[in-house]
Amino acid sequence: MSAESTQRTSSEFTNSNLEVLISEQQITDRVKELGAQITSEYASGDVVLIAILKGSCIFLADLMRAIDLKLTIDFMAVSSYKDGTESSGDVEILKDLSNPIRGKDVIVVEDIIDTGHTLARLLDILGTRGANSIKLAAFLDKPEPRVRKEVKIDYCGFVIPNHFVVGYGLDAAGRYRNLPFIARVKNPAEA
Ligand code: IMP
Ligand code: MG
Repeated sequence: MSAESTQRTSSEFTNSNLEVLISEQQITDRVKELGAQITSEYASGDVVLIAILKGSCIFLADLMRAIDLKLTIDFMAVSSYKDGTESSGDVEILKDLSNPIRGKDVIVVEDIIDTGHTLARLLDILGTRGANSIKLAAFLDKPEPRVRKEVKIDYCGFVIPNHFVVGYGLDAAGRYRNLPFIARVKNPAEA
């Protein structure tokens, strides 16, 4: 690589279209608390963390290292059909679990609950598979646009106002998942 090509011309992390809402330190502290809470509530059992791709990958990586229990992980990928900008509630499974969850204590790990359509449908599907228990860990809760009020978050990182946010796994058209903090996109048209 030439000397010129290593010169930094821009910074993604200090992008002027972003306003930091939750700092890296706040995230670290809160995820440790959630891990400790989960550790204390599952004294025994066969815990499976099911991460919903792609947004929850960073939350999963941090949360699992804060849980001092015997556990395994698995992944699902779903696409929620949007009706304009609204999530419609139709969910297609793009990637299913690798292993059965019968008899297991499941914790679904999600990045953000917005309307709740995606999780409501997913919990319906997982609910037919004979798990011993199913709980929900969501890094962010955006309660204002919630349509599916029955979606109960057992382990919530932060409650946020009705902004479009990115970072810590969350994206805008695929971008910004690598931000180590949560930011509001000031002008979504420029995201
Ligand atoms: P829901 O079905 O409306 O609850 O949609 C949840 C999904 O929409 C999340 O898993 C995210 O992928 C996406 N989403 C909702 N709000 C935001 C946001 O503010 N930033 C990035 N993605 C979001
Ligand atoms: Mg998601």
